[in-house]
Amino acid sequence: MKGIVLAGGRATRLRPLTKITSKQLLPVYNKPMIYYPIETLIKSGIKDILIIIAPDYAGHFLNLLGSGKELGAKFSYEVQDEPRGLADAFRVGENFIGDDNVTMILGDNIFDFNFAQSIQSFTKGAKIFAKEVQDPNRFGVVEFDANHKAISIEEKPKQAKSNYAVTGIYIYDNGVVDIAKNIKPSDRGEIEITDVNNEYLTRGELSVDIIDGIWEDAGTFDSLLRANNYWAEKSKAASS
Ligand code: DAU
Repeated sequence: MKGIVLAGGRATRLRPLTKITSKQLLPVYNKPMIYYPIETLIKSGIKDILIIIAPDYAGHFLNLLGSGKELGAKFSYEVQDEPRGLADAFRVGENFIGDDNVTMILGDNIFDFNFAQSIQSFTKGAKIFAKEVQDPNRFGVVEFDANHKAISIEEKPKQAKSNYAVTGIYIYDNGVVDIAKNIKPSDRGEIEITDVNNEYLTRGELSVDIIDGIWEDAGTFDSLLRANNYWAEKSKAASS
């Protein structure tokens, strides 16, 4: 199993915080945001990690993270020239993925949850993770039938069919590379990860686990503040 941290994009929602740096380099309590998704992968046993970055500030990521040795991992880097969408990661990362399965985590997604069991037991298809939220229309939204089986996934729907948001960690078999190559850009011009998940759903190969751990997509002022407060409290509780 290989790992990808997707840390490109323009982060216009966080301006002016992101006018002179990248979102994923902003502090979340006592370390840069990108440390959290990297550590989530490492804790789940993934050590071979591709970090996908935008051309701006690319050197800062390299200065910060280097080879990965300090964290007990091996980091590779690819530049995504344009923010073409989340599923573009599997095109940019094709050579890195090779013949392996891959777990992708978004560089602004911060979890307090251990995915080791799910990742180590994965063999085939796709596995994604949903969490109940108050504001589902910010996210991909999963609809479940009466037997808790996923029946649809919609990207940022106006009328959400449930309160279950798709979180930003995705486990795929090697078939994801071909699926991503065949996805057409959506109305907003992006190659959507939701289309990848819907393809696996159509094939009957998608499983959706509901998680109860802490999760923040730290891409807005309020969620960034919540993430900072959560990790500050947790860190102080651990040292008292
Ligand atoms: O956080 C979970 C949500 O992430 C999911 O529920 C949605 O289905 C999924 O589309 C995504 O929605 P966002 O609106 O949060 O995506 P955002 O554009 O903020 O991008 C997520 C991360 O990926 C962010 O750290 C920037 C990076 N990114 C984004 C794009 C579009 C890239 O590196 N390259 C890109 O082309």
